[in-house]
Amino acid sequence: MLSFRLSPLLFAILVTIVLAWAGAAAQARKQLIAHRGASGYAPEHTAAAYRLAMEQHAEFVEPDLAVTKDGVLICLHDDALKRTTNAAEVFPQREPWLANDFTLEEIKRLDAGSWFKPAFAGQRIQTFQEAIDLVRGKAGLYPELKSPELYRSRHVDQVKLFVDVIRKNGLDKPESLKTTPVIIQSFDEEAVRRVAKELPSIPRVLLVERDGDVSEPRLRVIKTFATGVAPEKSLVAQHPEMVKQAHALGLTVTCWTFRADEKTTFASVRDEMAHFLYDLGIDALFTNNPDQFPRR
Ligand code: G3P
Ligand code: CA
Repeated sequence: MLSFRLSPLLFAILVTIVLAWAGAAAQARKQLIAHRGASGYAPEHTAAAYRLAMEQHAEFVEPDLAVTKDGVLICLHDDALKRTTNAAEVFPQREPWLANDFTLEEIKRLDAGSWFKPAFAGQRIQTFQEAIDLVRGKAGLYPELKSPELYRSRHVDQVKLFVDVIRKNGLDKPESLKTTPVIIQSFDEEAVRRVAKELPSIPRVLLVERDGDVSEPRLRVIKTFATGVAPEKSLVAQHPEMVKQAHALGLTVTCWTFRADEKTTFASVRDEMAHFLYDLGIDALFTNNPDQFPRR
C-alpha cells in the first residue's frame, strides 16, 4: 500500500498556499450594491438607473420598496412622491403626495426622470415586479422594506406583499438564488424578524443608523434573526473593531452610502471605498457610483 508523510516544511508551505488562496477568495467576494441603481448618473430607481448599474458591473441593484394605495410594491426611496417626480404639478391638490395615497395607475402617469436631468424625461416609477423582470439573471436584488412603521399604522401588510412577490417569482428557491441572489434589508427589526420566519432561505440584513448600537452584545442579538448588519459608514469608522466581532459571529458587514459628490477626508470616493473594504475589512457597500468601486 502506498503511503507518504508530509515533512513539516511541506506542510507549512501547503498551509500558506491554502490561506493565501482563501484570503484572495474572501477579497474576491467583496460586493458592490448599486444604491437606488447607478443613482449618481441617472434618476434613482428608474429603469435607466438599474440598467446602468448592471452595465457598471454591480453585483446587486437596490430597490427601496413603498406600497401604493392599491397594494402594489413600487421602487421609491421617499414615502412621498414629490422629490423625485412631478406629482405636485400633476396632482396639485394631493399634498403631501404620499405614495400610499395614490394608485399605481396614477403613479404611472408621473415623470420620474426630468427632476434629475431633462434627458431622462419620461422615465417612470417601476413596480418591484418590473425591477425583478429587468434584473433577474443579470444581477442580484437587494430590496429594502422602507418605513414599515408607516404601513403598520395604516394597516397595510407590506411584509406580506413582499413575501408574496418573492414566492410568486420563485426567488426564494435555491436554484434561483444561485443566478439571482436576493438579500433583504430594513432598519425595522420587526420586519426583518418576520422575513426570517417567512423566507428563511433569503439572507437578511439589519440597517443601523449612525448613532446606533454595534456593540458585541447587540451583534449577538442581531445574529439571532439576521445574517448581516449594515451600519452607516461613520459608525464603522468609529468602531472598526465591530467588523471582526461581527465576522466572528458569522454576520456580514455592509456599509452605506458612498457618493462621489460627498466631501470627505479621502481624495476620492474610490479611495474611501477601498479603505472600508480592504483596511477595515467590510464585505460589501452601497454606492451611487458603481463605476468607482475598487476591485482587487
Ligand atoms: O439601504 C441602505 C441605504 O440605502 C440606507 O439609506 O436612506 O438611502 O435608503 P437610504
Ligand atoms: Ca435603501
